[in-house]
Amino acid sequence: MNTKSENIHPINQLLPRESKEQLLNQHAKVLWFTGLSGSGKSTIAKGLEEELHAKGFFSVVLDGDNVRMGINNNLGFSEEDRKENIRRIAEVAKLFLQNGVVVICCFVSPTEEIRNLARTIIGEIDFVEIFVNTSMEECENRDVKGLYAKARKGEIKDFTGVNAPFEIPAKSDLEIRTQNKSVNESVLEVIEFCIPILNFQS
Ligand code: ADX
Repeated sequence: MNTKSENIHPINQLLPRESKEQLLNQHAKVLWFTGLSGSGKSTIAKGLEEELHAKGFFSVVLDGDNVRMGINNNLGFSEEDRKENIRRIAEVAKLFLQNGVVVICCFVSPTEEIRNLARTIIGEIDFVEIFVNTSMEECENRDVKGLYAKARKGEIKDFTGVNAPFEIPAKSDLEIRTQNKSVNESVLEVIEFCIPILNFQS
């Protein structure tokens, strides 16, 4: 817990989230993608952002590799650093959420504890967990970033799936099995699931 937040007086009575949602004609949610590195989270998120945009929804993508270049560039991959990574990003996601934006988060977020941390910060009702289920074997075969090969050679420590854990999510709202599926098909599955939740009329 941060004990440095003393003598702080947050402003309140800002415009309510409902007004922002009304303006944007959408319900805000956090669509939280979890899955192994190379499972397809970011690729699906890119397609999803485009589809949502085309349908008139305002969204933002927060992605592990990007966030780790900036706001979280002082964090590595120990359990403690991963927790801090997710804590900060969940707080950022919450800021967007409170302002009516659909937030697409792509983070390995490998353990139930870490995902529960995000869920708690964001709030159960607004947290939509999407498990991109691509087998370890498939991720390693694809190895788009060449990281699995490096990890196998012992060049990366704490690499998820190789020498750090990935716990299968027990309570995902949606599971996308990417094997033998095009990116478009995966995006469509997410779209079909999400649109009813994001529609302001419903
Ligand atoms: S998380 O575990 O803290 O949620 P995050 O999603 O931010 O991870 O970052 C994962 C990305 O960082 C991977 O897609 C990969 O490109 C890169 N990466 C570098 N080192 C590691 C590692 N040791 N474990 C997992 N991913 C790593």
